[in-house]
Amino acid sequence: MQIIDGKAVSKAVKEQVKTECEMLKAKGITPGLAVIIVGEDPASQVYVRNKERACEECGFYSVKYALPADTTQSELNSLVDELNADDKINGILCQLPLPKHLDDKEVINRINPIKDVDAFHPFNVGKIMIGDYNFLPCTPAGVMELIRSTGVEISGKKAVVMGRSNIVGKPMAMLLLHADATVEIIHTKTPDDGAVTRTADILVVAVGKAKRVTADLVKEGALVIDVGMNRDENGKLCGDVDFENVKDKCSYITPVPGGVGPMTIAMLMKNTLTAAKIQNNIG
Ligand code: GUN
Repeated sequence: MQIIDGKAVSKAVKEQVKTECEMLKAKGITPGLAVIIVGEDPASQVYVRNKERACEECGFYSVKYALPADTTQSELNSLVDELNADDKINGILCQLPLPKHLDDKEVINRINPIKDVDAFHPFNVGKIMIGDYNFLPCTPAGVMELIRSTGVEISGKKAVVMGRSNIVGKPMAMLLLHADATVEIIHTKTPDDGAVTRTADILVVAVGKAKRVTADLVKEGALVIDVGMNRDENGKLCGDVDFENVKDKCSYITPVPGGVGPMTIAMLMKNTLTAAKIQNNIG
């Protein structure tokens, strides 16, 4: 069994982005990212801090808009309009989840698709569906990089995606399909999920439940990717996979933390660089 080192792979991606950023800067272009966070959700605050730090590492211009929890929809919409019109800003990201009185769909739809570095806008989601895209959603794109880093062939393999969210499960299945895997998506209404997961050569888990995937759900020699980020009964960070029990059954497995998490941020940097290039007509 080999543990996939998400920190190392993400570092390589960020270094590549930094090099390209320096080349853009030599042409007078500095990639710019605006991050909006509304309210005080502690997990979101950590994610946003990490995104700002990555921007610094890569040499980007970045601005954070920390709005109070009682921000109105029209105030949020006005900020998005302003950022859409701001030439220094190439990428706009609104950290989710938003407080309950705000509509995330309305915000996502308002971001100019060319600045939508999360790839959540329906225009970009549609482009991904047909395999003709500028941006890939950061977490599924990061998972693909991690799988590729192992050298394991994806084409012709059986891949199972556990979870069907718009942010991870659905686009994840699409990317695996584009890479010629035979893909099955399972979810909370799937009867006997183990019967499906045990067929998986590649198992991607994004269900948001601590240690949900136990060893009996995993095929011997499978490649297991854990997208989860939970706290266990002792308050310790853990994934959706019961790492200690599953690891000896796998060929490769990602740890939590240090697996998918750092990749999500690295891919956001890559998307911001791509956005800067597109907006400046650089191929
Ligand atoms: N909340 C959890 N994951 C994400 C993400 O990838 N992007 C944004 N904007 N919010 C999130």
